[in-house]
Amino acid sequence: MELIEAIYGRRATRAFTAEPVDKSVLEFLVEAAIQAPSAVNEQPWDFTVIRSKPLLDRISSAAKAHVLKANQDNAPPPHLREHLENPDFHIFYHAPALIVISARSGDWAVEDASLAAENLMLAAYARGLGSCWIGFAQRWLETEEGREAIGVPQDFVPVAPIIVGHPSEPMPPVPRNRARLRWLD
Ligand SMILES: Cc1cc2nc3c(=O)[nH]c(=O)nc-3n(C[C@H](O)[C@H](O)[C@H](O)COP(=O)(O)O)c2cc1C
Repeated sequence: MELIEAIYGRRATRAFTAEPVDKSVLEFLVEAAIQAPSAVNEQPWDFTVIRSKPLLDRISSAAKAHVLKANQDNAPPPHLREHLENPDFHIFYHAPALIVISARSGDWAVEDASLAAENLMLAAYARGLGSCWIGFAQRWLETEEGREAIGVPQDFVPVAPIIVGHPSEPMPPVPRNRARLRWLD
């Protein structure tokens, strides 16, 4: 697949079939992720691949509760609160796999993990898979309980929880706003 086709065609995927994703394909995605650039070539990445349904369910429930009890400043907006309060809403949309990209704590942890995340999502698309970064999971994964649940090492920070699976329906295009662009010639 042409890179440009993947860049324009990838969509946040929120509906999956029950078909599992092969281990070899998940390994391929991790290999694609680590081809990303990183500050000072630190390659500070750490990957957790979760395929256990009970664990995915547990993280979904805990993360929803965590976001809902956030204080006033970082409380979710009403339309998201409505989703989170719905007991049937699964933050991972029943995807068969979740890959959490963590990075060694440091000045560039978020940048490095995010670059790896985009590589991973583009590679997933190139393999006919759907993916979506699930920000809802982040705040809970950062807690001691969350880190322990997925085995993030002490000096690492979980940054990018990304679900992966076989899409059950095509995702509609998401229009982009015009780029804010300044030319300083
Ligand atoms: C940092 C980040 C957090 C996100 N968190 C969620 C999330 O918790 N749940 C969700 O359904 N989508 C989430 N998304 C997906 C975005 O909603 C999606 O990328 C956006 O609507 C644009 O759609 P597209 O990816 O198909 O272009 C997240 C995306 C990013 C980059």
